[in-house]
Amino acid sequence: MPAKLLLLAGVALLLGGCASQNGEDLLGSGPLPTPSCDTTRVTYAATVAPLLLQNCGSCHANGAAAGGVGLGAYTQTKAAATSGRLLGSVDHAPGYSPMPKGGAQLSACDRAKLRKWVAAGAPNN
Ligand code: HEC
Repeated sequence: MPAKLLLLAGVALLLGGCASQNGEDLLGSGPLPTPSCDTTRVTYAATVAPLLLQNCGSCHANGAAAGGVGLGAYTQTKAAATSGRLLGSVDHAPGYSPMPKGGAQLSACDRAKLRKWVAAGAPNN
């Protein structure tokens, strides 16, 4: 009887060891099964401004304001956001000019980040 108990304890230890190793693998540097979109830390300064500058800046920043829309400064971008034009254009919604003009639509992840920022009230954070 004591021998059986010892055996059970040993098996439990082995299984426990395997489980925690697998857990470590998931948190390690291995490839994730699906591409992830991290929208947990979306801010104007770190997320929105660089994204717009890179994808839209040639026509909407640094002195350019195609269609009367500037996206190089916070107040301009907030105006485009609160009017609905920012999301309408990047989502290619009916009634808006699809953006970026002449280019591929922004990735679903980038659009999710913009959507999250606008939903938060387009804060200057
Ligand atoms: C190659 C130049 C170019 C790029 C790049 C570009 N735009 Fe535009 N955008 C325009 C022009 C020109 C207009 C004026 C409307 C038109 O001609 O379609 C415009 C209009 C807009 C409007 C007003 C649309 C409406 O229907 O009221 C918004 C908002 C906008 N752009 C946002 C963006 C955003 C966001 C990006 C980047 C993801 C972007 N644009 C990239 C040229 C550009």
